[in-house]
Amino acid sequence: MAETLRFAPAIDGWLRVTTRDVTVGAVTIPAGARCLLLIGAANRDPAAFQDPDRFDPHRPDVGNHLSFGHGPHFCIGAGLARLEAGIAISRLAQTIPGLRLSPEQHRSYKPNVAFRAHRRLLATIDIPASSDEPVARGGATAEVRAG
Ligand code: HEM
Repeated sequence: MAETLRFAPAIDGWLRVTTRDVTVGAVTIPAGARCLLLIGAANRDPAAFQDPDRFDPHRPDVGNHLSFGHGPHFCIGAGLARLEAGIAISRLAQTIPGLRLSPEQHRSYKPNVAFRAHRRLLATIDIPASSDEPVARGGATAEVRAG
């Protein structure tokens, strides 16, 4: 789950106002500046993650993402969000074992600087023809549209 949060964070950008001058690399941002913090870009920073564009749940630094922020305002709901997602995904996999993303799925997101929401999600369910026959791939395709 941590690698999913790093690779494709639910919140891509977050607005902040600097309370004092801050130097990031070679740039000094003055106090009182409105900043859009690009969490998604920070999570792909090659100085922080080796081979950052590769999805690797076993990377050693998997928990170093900024998807729940950082510091005193670190997301207060991070534990709950992880718990909810873990329960939802494992219950879904138990209830519909043949559920997987459709190969026809082309990623496209709603226009939004902060939140990442799919326009639609195509899912395919492998349905076994009978208990002693192999699984029939592509048995059904369902489309879930974001509201
Ligand atoms: C995948 C789900 C979630 C993501 C990606 C997320 C992400 C974030 C981020 C990036 C921040 C800003 C942190 C910062 O400024 O450094 C934040 C703050 C916050 N989040 Fe979440 N969040 C999630 C779920 C939740 C849930 C489930 C709750 C409550 C039940 C929650 C409550 C809060 C609150 C109250 C803050 C403000 C904390 C503060 O300003 O001190 N979040 N979250």
